[in-house]
Amino acid sequence: MAKVRTTHRCRSCGAVAARWQGRCPGCGEWDALVEQVEAAVRPVAAVRLAAATGERPQPIGEVDAMGAVPRPTGVGELDRVLGGGLVPGSVTLVGGEPGIGKSTLLLQALAPRSHREATLLVSAEESAQQVRRRADRLGCLAPGLHLLAATTTDAVLAAVEEVSPTMLVVDSVQTVADPEMGHTPGSPGQVRAVAAAMAAMAKRRGVAVVLVGHVTKDGDLAGPRVLEHLVDTVLSFEGDRHHALRLLRAVKHRFGATGELGLFEMGERGLQGVEDPSGMLLGDRQPGIAGAVVVPVVEGSRILLVEVQALVTATTLSNPRRSVQGLDTGRLAQLIAVLHRHCATNVATLDVHAAVAGGVRVNEPAVDLGLALALASSSRDKAIPADLVALGEVGLGGELRQVGSTPRRLAEAARLGFRRAILPRSAPPPPPGITALRAPDLATALTLVGL
Ligand code: TYD
Ligand code: MG
Repeated sequence: MAKVRTTHRCRSCGAVAARWQGRCPGCGEWDALVEQVEAAVRPVAAVRLAAATGERPQPIGEVDAMGAVPRPTGVGELDRVLGGGLVPGSVTLVGGEPGIGKSTLLLQALAPRSHREATLLVSAEESAQQVRRRADRLGCLAPGLHLLAATTTDAVLAAVEEVSPTMLVVDSVQTVADPEMGHTPGSPGQVRAVAAAMAAMAKRRGVAVVLVGHVTKDGDLAGPRVLEHLVDTVLSFEGDRHHALRLLRAVKHRFGATGELGLFEMGERGLQGVEDPSGMLLGDRQPGIAGAVVVPVVEGSRILLVEVQALVTATTLSNPRRSVQGLDTGRLAQLIAVLHRHCATNVATLDVHAAVAGGVRVNEPAVDLGLALALASSSRDKAIPADLVALGEVGLGGELRQVGSTPRRLAEAARLGFRRAILPRSAPPPPPGITALRAPDLATALTLVGL
């Protein structure tokens, strides 16, 4: 393994210091030095290393085009997010809050191929007995699945030599360490050193490596964030621990697109892929409640029907509260302004809560019309018809603009029993089963839905 040394670099001015100091020697800023790892490899050694790992220039025609072919894990929703599966020789980081289901997901991802080939699960947090019991319960007792309870990189590398796995899971990257480094496990230097050692091994042996990384409640990727440039793929596993729905998305993916969303349900028998996500997301919907509108959104190659909710209430604060979940705060502010200026609907001086039910995040402007209708519906305490979906972008002048994939979105709405769609005037014709209510602007849309 390459020896590493650490330096400290200033976040503001980039000055480098050998040791950590409270104040940057360059610009004087407090608490700005961050630890960095540098491989202390001399040029000659680097050449030898390159030769050993096969890093030589090659005519492009001789490069193995099949080198980055993903192999399915057998867990459909994971393979969907990865664009087919894990690429041999690659490193994937799976980040998520403690308790979200990372260990469960990766145990389930190891099992299918372990019926035919050797795999290795390194558990640095749970004992081998605990993992065995979980594997029993989840039906993951495959003959090729090897288990190692260890906390040092040397132990992991030795086990890889012994088992020759095609897939390795390290759970977690923060609890495995290189004892010779002298830093505590989980420190940025250690986490990077562990990841670098695993990446070198992955390349050399063609092993698909998955590192588990914990993320804190406030979304701080302290551990995993320092790794993002060292790994090929970063997956984020999210959801509300109190609900069954889990969302998996790619934050970075060297071998494919990052837009695809994986959906799981956590249950008695571990994680199950969600077959009908829209049906599940709308499962607890109560028609007839003011402030709720259903919007068909695009997530990767899939259409999801989500319920956008708004609650507008009187406030005692001079700065009214804006609480937003799963939606863009900037767009919410913009829609509040448009409602005020163009639709004689003033919610600017009131507390506004807005959310997408089920923990889904929606960033596309296609949700504008639905959110604006939800705000107006709540402020007038009048429900939007339950058989209606809303789809369209709202401009600053209150005008409505059509959005991409309208027919596909409406087809999914029709499948789930919706009969009407409120749309911008220019939107393409709706599929069979859906009647279009067309409006040039937001004010007309409010009238058309009876607000
Ligand atoms: P776990 O995979 O240990 O989460 P992480 O590795 O991200 O910390 O799973 C955590 C939770 O999932 C745990 O509280 C129990 C629950 N769980 C189930 O509900 N069903 C199951 O089959 C399993 C294995 C876990
Ligand atoms: Mg775990």
